[in-house]
Amino acid sequence: MVCMADLQVEFAGLKFRNPILTAAGPTSRDGMTLLTAATGGVGGLVAKTISVKGAQIPRPNMAAIGRGRVSSRRGILNTELWSELPPEQWFEKEYAIAKSSGLTLVASVGYTPEEVSSLAPEMERAGVEAIEFSTHYVGGHVEIAKALRDSVNIPIFAKLSPKVDVAKVAKSLEPHVDGIVAINTYGPCLRIDIETARPMLGGEGGQGWLSGPALKPIALRCVADIAQAVDLPIMGVGGVTSGEDVIEFVMAGASAVQVCTAAILEGHTIYGKIVDETKKWLDTHGYGSINEIRGIALKQLTELTPPPSIDHEKCTVCGLCVKSCVYDAITANKEDGILQINSEDCQACGMCISVCPFAALGYE
Ligand SMILES: Cc1cc2nc3c(=O)[nH]c(=O)nc-3n(C[C@H](O)[C@H](O)[C@H](O)COP(=O)(O)O)c2cc1C
Repeated sequence: MVCMADLQVEFAGLKFRNPILTAAGPTSRDGMTLLTAATGGVGGLVAKTISVKGAQIPRPNMAAIGRGRVSSRRGILNTELWSELPPEQWFEKEYAIAKSSGLTLVASVGYTPEEVSSLAPEMERAGVEAIEFSTHYVGGHVEIAKALRDSVNIPIFAKLSPKVDVAKVAKSLEPHVDGIVAINTYGPCLRIDIETARPMLGGEGGQGWLSGPALKPIALRCVADIAQAVDLPIMGVGGVTSGEDVIEFVMAGASAVQVCTAAILEGHTIYGKIVDETKKWLDTHGYGSINEIRGIALKQLTELTPPPSIDHEKCTVCGLCVKSCVYDAITANKEDGILQINSEDCQACGMCISVCPFAALGYE
């Protein structure tokens, strides 16, 4: 099939060739890493957070959740802070290298109003097209936004943590920022190496912050809450590993997404894979542009009307729903290979719909 869907998006006046961006983290830690991401297919660049001096980070500072074959479907705990590089190195070298990709570059800054207003003018002079500020649980969102607004003329975005009331915070920020980024990591969390009974991470109490697929349902809920509270463009971030994840975030109201953990675990080619999957989904579902689906789930965040029904044309009788039906209400007729839901036993719990890989189960 010829891929036709248009993935270009505009965000607070910035243009991105597609809606999949890097996120602040080790996969955006310097100019060369951002250039590599550009070759992997990202639509725009978000750089690692900088502050007034380079961070001194605990070691070890990253641990995958679960051992064994690496898969982007797993999460990470981390104790990284902001960039270890001094801000001057970013102004003089790293932003310029990233900008040589030709992609729109968003810088990230933290943390106090004084710190951000001393750094932001230099960031603007270095040519970044927008600035995201990270509060990561330190609070003071409006004060930081105002300090940034007074320091630069480029768009500014607030990156929110999942532990705040995101709708309320977004509302308070609405007059002061040009966009919202949601969300940062969740925690603190812990992982123990059972071979040694020691934590997997260095730093205080071995504790770290959760990212990756486990974060996605929280991030999606935050994006939907923000989209219903304010009239600002939103970047969704948290657990994006596939094109279907992108579609879900955009349906919840995001205009673009950022990817961190999946790129740590799978490398920079994951971006292009996610882009291709997004395009393919739009093509096969008859959409001409990613913008057509933005927010379409929001008006449907109401009660559902069970019980489920089966689309026998789509059903392959793979048996996944039969296995996951704790009420034993689904049977696959061995003779004619047809799936049946016994309405007397079905408790309309909805699990079968969520596990079906072929979208063969749904509500009328
Ligand atoms: C190792 C690591 C370092 C991170 N550093 C930053 C940072 O410097 N600034 C920031 O705002 N977010 C930082 N984040 C958070 C990510 O940008 C992102 O919000 C979060 O990981 C959720 O996205 P993901 O599930 O795609 O990783 C970091 C995440 C990880 C895993």
